[in-house]
Amino acid sequence: MRFTDKICLVTGGTSGIGRATCLRLGREGGTVVVLGRDRADGVETVRLVTKAGGKAVFMACDLARPRAIAATVKKVLAKYHHLDVLVADAAMMTFDPLVDLPLPKWDELMLVNLRSLVQLAQLCLPHMRRGSAIVAISSVHAHQTTANVVPYATSKGGLEALVRGLSIELDRRQTRINAVAPGAVDTPMLWSNPNVKSGQEKIDKASVGTPDELAAAIAFLASAEASFVHGTTLVVDGGRLAQL
Ligand SMILES: NC(=O)c1ccc[n+]([C@@H]2O[C@H](COP(=O)([O-])OP(=O)(O)OC[C@H]3O[C@@H](n4cnc5c(N)ncnc54)[C@H](O)[C@@H]3O)[C@@H](O)[C@H]2O)c1
Repeated sequence: MRFTDKICLVTGGTSGIGRATCLRLGREGGTVVVLGRDRADGVETVRLVTKAGGKAVFMACDLARPRAIAATVKKVLAKYHHLDVLVADAAMMTFDPLVDLPLPKWDELMLVNLRSLVQLAQLCLPHMRRGSAIVAISSVHAHQTTANVVPYATSKGGLEALVRGLSIELDRRQTRINAVAPGAVDTPMLWSNPNVKSGQEKIDKASVGTPDELAAAIAFLASAEASFVHGTTLVVDGGRLAQL
């Protein structure tokens, strides 16, 4: 029970890796604030956490809207007064060649994948207790990528640089920040990816991870067991990046 009495905020808690993370943190004693766009999916996550014996609430928030982020964090702090864990999991992808990419799409993706983490860090850090942790979800695309996903790969590369840089600015006893870079994981994001559907991005079905396997790594970095781990990215990809 590594998260007893801890307040844990999880963006993208409405599906996939985010939902699995909510379940794990909740099962291990955390009070989970499920942040997401879709109320029905968020309520379902709350139901699953509660069924597993945990505590959770849903708060609606579109991460492409900075004002909504500010209002939601205000609500969270009014209710709980402090935070112990922030998991920045939500992200979106685009699939245009860069030369054809409408710039508003670039802006939206950066808002969701990168700026929201900056804003959440600014709003949450002053209220994060001693021994707290931020875990940001990157991707193997920060390291090797395919065509037509430049904005996504750029956002994840930026996220990892942000994590490294911010870790230097933080009081290490107060809050740690780290990233997890998943490989292919069995979630809606993987199977709805047109590059995966077309076979341009090759996925060996035997090397697809489960959301639970990612949640285990995220929970480790969020817990006191990772007290000496700062500013790093843990690649959790079933060995995909190791192969030529
Ligand atoms: N599934 C994979 O193969 C894979 C691989 C590498 C990295 N990742 C990363 O893992 C994380 C979780 O993705 P997943 O695979 O669980 O996919 P998913 O589609 O199940 O979850 C993505 C979540 O992000 C949320 N989201 C997207 N835009 C949002 C917005 N504007 N406001 C609020 N929430 C928004 C969605 O509602 C959803 O809950 C992401 O950061 C993704 O980049 C996934």
